[in-house]
Amino acid sequence: LGKIKAGDDSPGLAIYDPGFVNTASCRSSVTYIDGEEGILEYRGYPIEQLAEKSSFLEVAYLLIHGELPTKEQHDAWVHDITFHTFVHENVKTFMQGFRYDAHPMGMLMASVGALSTFYPDARNIGDDDNRQMQIIRMIAKMPTLGAWAFRHAQGKPYVYPDNDLSYTENFLAMLFKMSEQKYEADERLVKALDVLFILHADHEQNCSTNAVRSVGSSQVDPYSAVAAGVGALYGPLHGGANEAVLRMLRRIGTKENIPSFIEGVKAGNEKLMGFGHRVYKNYDPRARIIKKAAEDVFEVTGTNPLLDIALELEKIALEDEYFVSRKLYPNVDFYSGLIYEAFQFPPEMFTVLFAIGRTPGWLAQWLELVQDKEQKIARPKQIYTGDRRLTFTPASERW
Ligand code: ACO
Repeated sequence: LGKIKAGDDSPGLAIYDPGFVNTASCRSSVTYIDGEEGILEYRGYPIEQLAEKSSFLEVAYLLIHGELPTKEQHDAWVHDITFHTFVHENVKTFMQGFRYDAHPMGMLMASVGALSTFYPDARNIGDDDNRQMQIIRMIAKMPTLGAWAFRHAQGKPYVYPDNDLSYTENFLAMLFKMSEQKYEADERLVKALDVLFILHADHEQNCSTNAVRSVGSSQVDPYSAVAAGVGALYGPLHGGANEAVLRMLRRIGTKENIPSFIEGVKAGNEKLMGFGHRVYKNYDPRARIIKKAAEDVFEVTGTNPLLDIALELEKIALEDEYFVSRKLYPNVDFYSGLIYEAFQFPPEMFTVLFAIGRTPGWLAQWLELVQDKEQKIARPKQIYTGDRRLTFTPASERW
């Protein structure tokens, strides 16, 4: 296309597509989404089945390897990930150097990037065994780094992994353990968090995955590429909507205030946070599953009064012509913040949970990228709008 030119000065025919709304940057067999029908599949398996019948680590295996594990493969995978949950003591020292009020996502991004210096062998991305080693390390260490970022903000000592526990229970222990006694979480809470990780595990070419692929296309090590993904997720347009939902529900305050709030949304004063999606023009399938997980969590923690407002808000919006005609339905963030709050996570931790869940997806996409012989370094075109062929005048003559 670049050879089709309007004249000598022409840059050649190009597609101007800011945000890549209509541009496919890669071929991928990891995740399928049909936004009109509200379908999400990992490697061909519907998200509903995976959330109900699988576990986060099994889903991680599926995403990375492309197929479900045999029992032996599963056990070896879980064993290897469990074996690598500890991080180098100097990573701990590094994290302890952050300000007392450092945002946990900033800490996570930096410490993930720092791992690249602890595993210089990770730069050998041409070797499959080596790639698998780094993938296992990364999935294993994310909860440790995320939990330590949380403890740091609370001024509490970091808790080392307890490898007798499952992946998700271990994460909860590193977050909330307060004494020398063995930490035991309610099984229903462990299951709910595991399901939330599954729901966030991949979502094809979203902003952070695109960042991982773009940085990874330079053939850098996977820690540096995933650090870029964490950075992208840090932004409020990507990872921050569930916190905005909580703020909105608190502001509405009571069910009686919902109609006037909805009128304000319809008048264009504000958005109904947690509604609408660039891809889903139907009920986000993850929102349906999260709604059910919320019920399970509230059975343990006691209900959050904001849930009643959320349920009523959803009911009213789904019957309102404004939302119906624009195909605005609840998205994954509408209920997830309520669950996280029930776990007593502060809002700045919500995105860290998202990042831990998304890690296998980032790595599956990174692996696909580095194995794709046709993939080139990401280097989009631009439409240049600046000046040209100016004559430079030295400062001594301009001032
Ligand atoms: N509340 C009220 N109106 C809305 C909302 C909303 N949440 N979302 C979209 N609309 C309206 C728009 O104003 C627009 O109306 P118009 O045609 O009269 O101008 C129409 O619906 C189409 O909306 P767009 O902005 O074109 O949709 P887009 O696909 O660009 O945006 C987005 C999607 C950003 C998610 C949007 O729906 C939104 O801001 N939602 C609230 C924030 C949110 O929940 N984000 C989380 C997304 S999920 C995730 O990132 C993991």
